[in-house]
Amino acid sequence: MCGIVGYAGRRQAAPILLEGLKKLEYRGYDSAGVAVLDNGTLHVMKRAGSVEGLAPAKSFAGNVGIGHTRWATHGAPTEENAHPHIFGRIALVHNGIIENMKQLKEECLERGETFISETDSEVIAHLLDFCYEGDILAALKKTAARLSGSLALAVISLEEPQRIALARRASPLVVGRAEDGVYLASDIPAIAAKGMKVYALGENEFALLDGKEAHFYAEDGREIEKKPLDYAVEEDVPEKKGFRHFMRKEMSEIPLSIANTQQILRSYPKISALREVLCHAEYIHIVACGTAYHSGLCAKVAFETRARIPVEVAVASEYRYRDPVIQRNTLVIAVSQSGETADTLAAAELAKRSGATLLAVTNVRYSSLARLSDLVLFTAAGREIAVAATKSFNAQLTLLFALAEELAMAKGRGGCGAELFSLPELAQRALASSEEVRAWTPHFLSAKSVFFLGRGADYCVALEGSLKLKEISYLPSEGYPAGELKHGTLALIEKGTPVVAILTSSRLAEKTMNAVHETYARGAKVFLVTSLPEYRKREEILSSVLIPDIGEIYSPVLSVIPLQALAYYVSVARGNDPDKPRNLAKSVTVE
Ligand code: M6R
Repeated sequence: MCGIVGYAGRRQAAPILLEGLKKLEYRGYDSAGVAVLDNGTLHVMKRAGSVEGLAPAKSFAGNVGIGHTRWATHGAPTEENAHPHIFGRIALVHNGIIENMKQLKEECLERGETFISETDSEVIAHLLDFCYEGDILAALKKTAARLSGSLALAVISLEEPQRIALARRASPLVVGRAEDGVYLASDIPAIAAKGMKVYALGENEFALLDGKEAHFYAEDGREIEKKPLDYAVEEDVPEKKGFRHFMRKEMSEIPLSIANTQQILRSYPKISALREVLCHAEYIHIVACGTAYHSGLCAKVAFETRARIPVEVAVASEYRYRDPVIQRNTLVIAVSQSGETADTLAAAELAKRSGATLLAVTNVRYSSLARLSDLVLFTAAGREIAVAATKSFNAQLTLLFALAEELAMAKGRGGCGAELFSLPELAQRALASSEEVRAWTPHFLSAKSVFFLGRGADYCVALEGSLKLKEISYLPSEGYPAGELKHGTLALIEKGTPVVAILTSSRLAEKTMNAVHETYARGAKVFLVTSLPEYRKREEILSSVLIPDIGEIYSPVLSVIPLQALAYYVSVARGNDPDKPRNLAKSVTVE
């Protein structure tokens, strides 16, 4: 998945493209490139690495241009594989995956054409040039009909110096109309400015930008009128505010993100519609990916315990191809920080087609998921820049736990007694004590593998702790149900293996400690995150962090904080950039 941007208008295109690309880097930062049209001359610059490498392109003259920041799918993150791809009279930027690339490429090779990259996108430039008869939109329509897979495409021709043609299928694309010209991008914040009218391209739609106007077309070629989206310009461009990394800064914002999310819920305008849906829900499916999937797992514990309603939590990429059983009165909750994750969107679409009520939990107001869903609950975590999700996870949990309480009420079960309203303050305390994990770092630096153990809600958090450590420290690690360890995985424990146990349930604590003891007996170094002070003194424990007690079901929102901190400190100590881990991107818009 990648970010694309474009401009046609009165201003110089290059600075606009570079600024837009910087804002799109959360979608990929392997390589980047721009192409600017200047009265029939094409100025092109591509670089391996981040958008910063394109700084010299700022001086390119020309009022029409396209740009791209890449997350490599086909081909390594090299300059050759960077976009824009150029062939004949055509230059293009592409986000998505072309599934029939091999067959199309063979056709081009038979015509004697040569390729310079290993990407699937380059083949589109060849096809476009082949179809081109002086009308870029017509060529794009013909070409798109031959492509299988996903695409957001912005295309220019050397022969039409004022125009950019666009196509969208399963990859987001928005167009902004402003007084000085027409903009395009993979998402709204990359281009949005005061007074701009922003339009989202629908599935299989096309557009033609001519420097003044944007024209939109349905799949069958009809020109269509579009209503501008209702959006607010983000005034605050996130900064590190004295922190070395965004991840650490975003962790410091966890209490605020919890408090703001609680506030949003209190003033939710569709509360009666939501209560109605909850009242009738007999089954719940939660679909999500990565960290959002883990918040779904934590929510399952809460929903089932508090409301006694069966909950299935599915990894969206599995759910979408599984033909899931969606019964009457199934509520499907799609959880996604970005609201743009391709697999989550596909799973949500499937649920909707199958007649389920679709509730989105997302951090991005104008996201594709928000637009697709019957009801939307926003987490108010604020913009999250670091690839590793932190404050957005705590906000998702806050929201889902509040939903569990609503659901319990709708099912006639009383309040749980947990002081959810004091969560922001408790999170602040958990943050403060999390600093102690810094001292654990040396034990992890060159570990062959790391294990996170827990039971019940603690197990769900173990999975998240492990994911966090993997993605930014690159250490192999596993989150495991404590009781399951002896059925095979215990074989991996060696002298010095770091084991992190999560212990917040007095009901399950001794059971988890059995497993902890088994690892200790085999030489593991055991670290503990707990709300139960009596366990800190146990002989098995090398070091521990005490977090406030909020009760077993809702503990994940606090117990995850020391694990996020651990991942951060280990990552930094290993010399990694926790904000931009290798091979990853913030938003995964391809499947
Ligand atoms: O935007 P989403 O919540 O849909 O993203 C889902 C995952 O890609 C995301 O949580 C990913 O696992 C994070 N990098 C984890 O820190």
